[in-house]
Amino acid sequence: LSGPFESRRLEFDLFDCEVQGTIPKDLDGAFYRLGGVWCYPPRFPNDIPLHSDGHISRFRIRTGRVDYRGRFVRTERYVANRAAGRNLFGLYRNRLTDDPSVQHLDGTVANTTPLAFAGKLFALKEDGLPHVIDPLTLETLGRWNGAGRFHSQTFTAHPKRDPVSGELITFGYEATGPASRDVFLYTLSPDGEVKREVRFQVPYVSVMHDIAITQHHVIFPFGGYTTSPERLAAGQLHWCWDASLPSVIGILPRNGDAGDMRWFKGPLQCMMHTFNAHSAGDIVTLDAPFYDANLFPFVPNHDGSPPRREHAKGYVRRLTFDLSSRQDSWHESILFPTVIGDLGCIDPRFLSLPQRYCFAGYQDPQRVAESGILTRAPWPLANSYARFDLQDRRVESYFAGPDCSLDECCFIPRSAGAPEGDGYLIGVANNHARDRSELVVADTRNLAAGDIARVILPLRAGPQVHGTWVGQGELPLD
Ligand SMILES: [Fe+2]
Repeated sequence: LSGPFESRRLEFDLFDCEVQGTIPKDLDGAFYRLGGVWCYPPRFPNDIPLHSDGHISRFRIRTGRVDYRGRFVRTERYVANRAAGRNLFGLYRNRLTDDPSVQHLDGTVANTTPLAFAGKLFALKEDGLPHVIDPLTLETLGRWNGAGRFHSQTFTAHPKRDPVSGELITFGYEATGPASRDVFLYTLSPDGEVKREVRFQVPYVSVMHDIAITQHHVIFPFGGYTTSPERLAAGQLHWCWDASLPSVIGILPRNGDAGDMRWFKGPLQCMMHTFNAHSAGDIVTLDAPFYDANLFPFVPNHDGSPPRREHAKGYVRRLTFDLSSRQDSWHESILFPTVIGDLGCIDPRFLSLPQRYCFAGYQDPQRVAESGILTRAPWPLANSYARFDLQDRRVESYFAGPDCSLDECCFIPRSAGAPEGDGYLIGVANNHARDRSELVVADTRNLAAGDIARVILPLRAGPQVHGTWVGQGELPLD
């Protein structure tokens, strides 16, 4: 691994980071980020980046000042590897390829999403249970299983918090073991208690990375990636890409049981993340940044052909479903011609409700640096954030500057009562020319003006897949 993906095994604290510009004085909270770093090199050369060790970091922001802290998540894998001084764990989600001495241990790497819920901070990864993290020290406190009431062996990296009820809708796929078709869906009360469980099976085992919720439905999109017990027994990577499979989207009433599931099918796409969804009577609308082909160049094709190296393209798509119809298909449209990455967000106050804005990173081809750093990566790196106005079909853009690639953005409302989409976008810019990280803060009222503040780290911050903003009062931050 080199360039933007080179592993830096760093844990460090920085107080009073250098700030260029002015951070709004009323911005009071912490931006938590989670990603993966190879603490030790992979045991096999064809292991994949999804299997790197979880590293959690935070930028604590208050009164215009910023402190940074980053720590590895102390998973059982991390602890065992540290003791051995090497990586004892084999291929991603194929425990049969582990060293026999660690096959009884929890193998998750906890490297995908930080979640703040019910007064706790969690590190999430879809192949295991959440790890509870101290929100101040970033120490790993242990695993969470809902006081024994969460029965799935896995917990998604993308649970959804209903802003109306305060509930958390979450699930685990391959819930009863590797390559199982079992999915367990859960509702957690605002104080973190497991209140409801629904068990169902999917038409075929696939990456079920994200869901969407409305006030009345839960939506499960997936497609293309698959696995089998035979693959695992043969010592292969867990996932392959099978272009002969359909895209599948399940829709279940929030108060329904397994028998109420409707399965819809469509031409194959790569369905990883969603923006949001809402229900209006029998019509369910899903907005999502789905790709037109396999997003991950390191996942092999099922038929043995080499993975296509060209980049899959993502767009802001709108899918509509008519639950009154007996048809098992949906209507789909691409809302903007802009090719985007699939890491984005919405105003969290509008999750499950009709929303006007989506935010996403994308690579503005007109502003790619001469150094070529952005185009040498194995997948497109963003140099801009866009605010897509789905009502007026307008796009406003923030540009991070030459030689910078952007991690996923996070939207912070200007105030509790601010209109939708009015606030700040924050995210980490990786400045490849200076080999350092810069936290950028932009005002959504004028994204084209660039950042209003930039927090300069003298070296690279920890890695990020996803990040989340936690306001003062949601967690004990100090
Ligand atoms: Fe994700």
